[in-house]
Formats: sequence, structure tokens, C-alpha cells
Amino acid sequence: MRTAFTSRLTFALAAALALGACTKLESTDTAAADPGHASGEHGSASSAGLPPGNIAAGEKKSQEKGKATGQSCIDCHGAEGDKPIAATYPHLAGQYADYLAHALQAYRAGDRQHALMTPQAKDLSDQDIANLAAYFSSRKGELRDLHGLD
Ligand code: HEC
Repeated sequence: MRTAFTSRLTFALAAALALGACTKLESTDTAAADPGHASGEHGSASSAGLPPGNIAAGEKKSQEKGKATGQSCIDCHGAEGDKPIAATYPHLAGQYADYLAHALQAYRAGDRQHALMTPQAKDLSDQDIANLAAYFSSRKGELRDLHGLD
């Protein structure tokens, strides 16, 4: 009896695993059908493949006035990316570097559109993006995750 139950359980688990595997395969297939997103062709599928970021170079870049707008990152996002000039502007300090890089790649590629940010990102090189992401993520900021909350 016990053995039959165990083997049924084993079967159910195997079936669940197989289903899980199928779901995973399907989503890979969907991504493959849209190579722009799957391969990073537009530069926004993932931040993987960027060169390592340099914090000091990122800090310098964050203060440079962009050619397109005459503004620097910290003109809008504030000192160290943690004092945005408007409540609706995002904090960058302490954000995951991957996330920042991914967002900048998406603006640059036009996959993420915003009247202020898209022109900011347009002329950034992969190295600039990696540096800026390394710099802002290295700053202590007000962003926090749910650690320590009940
Ligand atoms: C003219 C003001 C302005 C400037 C200059 C500016 N930003 Fe932004 N930035 C914004 C606003 C507003 C948003 C929110 C846009 C949105 O909702 O997509 C934003 C969004 C972002 C995001 C996405 C954050 C998130 O949480 O998703 C990143 C990353 C970012 N900016 C980085 C930069 C960097 C790096 C620079 C300098 C190269 C820069 N910004 C310059 C106004 C600005």
C-alpha cells in the first residue's frame, strides 16, 4: 500500500517536473521567435555581455552634460542619484547594476520610451552604460528591498 502510494507520488512528481520542463521550453521558443528580444539584438534583452563597469568613470560621466539635452544624470536624478528633482523621477542610488544597465539599454534601443530619458541614453556606449550602472549601484541610497520586514 505504502509502496503504491509512494510510486504514485513519484509519478506525480515526475509529471510535474516534465510539465515544468515543457513550460520552460515553450517560453524559450517564444523568445526565439522574437530574436530581437531573445538575442539582445536591440541591446535590451539583458545586460549580459556588457564590459565590466568602472565606478570612477561612471561618476565622471554622471556629471557630464549630455550633448542632446545639455543636462547630466545628476541634474535630474540628484547628487549620487539619490536626490531626484521631482518626486516622480526615480532614485538610482543603490539600485541593482543589472537593472540600471538593462533600463539604459532599453532606452537606448527605443524599447523603453520616455521623452526625457530616451535622448539621454541615445549616445551612451556599452562602456558608459556599464560604468554608470556600476557607479549608481555602488551609492548608498533610499532604495531598499523587503529584507527585515515582517
Ligand atoms: C531631464 C531629466 C533626466 C536626465 C538628465 C536623466 N534622467 Fe534618467 N530618468 C528621468 C526620468 C523622468 C525617468 C523616469 C522615466 C520613465 O518613467 O521611464 C528616468 C529614468 C531613468 C532610469 C530608469 C530607472 C528605473 O527605476 O527604471 C535610469 C536607469 C536612468 N534614468 C538613468 C539615467 C542616467 C544614467 C542619466 C545620465 C546619462 C540620466 N538618467 C539622465 C529623468 C532624467
